[in-house]
Amino acid sequence: MSGTDKKIVTVSVTGATGHIGYAILFRILSGNLFGKDIKVNLQIIDINDEKIKAALSGVAMEIEDSAFPALNNLSIHTDPTSGFNKADVAFLIGARPRGPGMERKDLLLANGKIFVAQGKALNESASRDVKVLVVGNPANTNAYIAMKSAPDLKKRNFSAMMRLDHNRAVAQLSKKLRCSVEKISQICVWGNHSPTMVVDVNNALLNDSERVIDQLDPDWISENLMPNVAKRGAAIIKQRGLSSAASAASAAVDHMHDWVNGTQSWTTMGIPSYGEYGIPEDLVFGFPTTCHNGGDISVVNNLVLDKVIKEKIKLSVDELIQEKENVADLIS
Ligand code: LMR
Repeated sequence: MSGTDKKIVTVSVTGATGHIGYAILFRILSGNLFGKDIKVNLQIIDINDEKIKAALSGVAMEIEDSAFPALNNLSIHTDPTSGFNKADVAFLIGARPRGPGMERKDLLLANGKIFVAQGKALNESASRDVKVLVVGNPANTNAYIAMKSAPDLKKRNFSAMMRLDHNRAVAQLSKKLRCSVEKISQICVWGNHSPTMVVDVNNALLNDSERVIDQLDPDWISENLMPNVAKRGAAIIKQRGLSSAASAASAAVDHMHDWVNGTQSWTTMGIPSYGEYGIPEDLVFGFPTTCHNGGDISVVNNLVLDKVIKEKIKLSVDELIQEKENVADLIS
């Protein structure tokens, strides 16, 4: 797909019967993601299990009952190769979620194999321009695994979801500054979608011109904003007994919307590094990005990083290198 020049977009969603899947499908078909004049071929995918298959057909019934004008065709799949057939957009959501007391990286071995299989299936059957967003945790390293398992696709076909962290930071700032969320721009969350992520507001603007850091107590940034965003997923699990679902689906839609339609300001995307800011090649890393031309991604460059941010970024890099080493056997 190149942007909105297509009239029919094929979208594949794994984990379609899960909580995030259930929340995202109806947003994808609402008409806001690709634009009102675009029709969607929706390919919903989940595992080959009798109960799940029944749930998948129940979800399909609900989609049908919604009479979405945007829906062109709906198909159900338990095999990823058929599920990703000609996919222009793929949301890789299906994975075991973490429970209380777990870190996302604890899921690596349970979920890593899923992303090997899905990377191979994408390699075989998806559009060569497919836009892949990995939501299942640990999202950055799962995206790395899928990318490495799809040698015929370009590495920037793959991305991991850092937009939930970005949205969380914007929401906290808007509450603190008592302004609406769209007044805040130029923030980013570097690194891994884990507690080592680095919320960076050094370049953030209010109303496109006022420096946000001039209006905030530095202690609030380091002692409240940064840790609260980094640990928000765990805080939600504690309260709900389940991991975030609707906000994750919403962030996934935001991520894909901006990738397809272009960004107004910066966003944060986990994307494979080409070495920008000294981040080792291929690590899937949260960068400040802009999107244009229906799918090109640029890392915002020439930002001056202060010592504290640099030190924190290093910890996130080290963690991702460790995760990469832990999955080396899966992708060799
Ligand atoms: C989140 O950040 O809410 C999700 O990644 C779910 C989780 O395990 O934290």
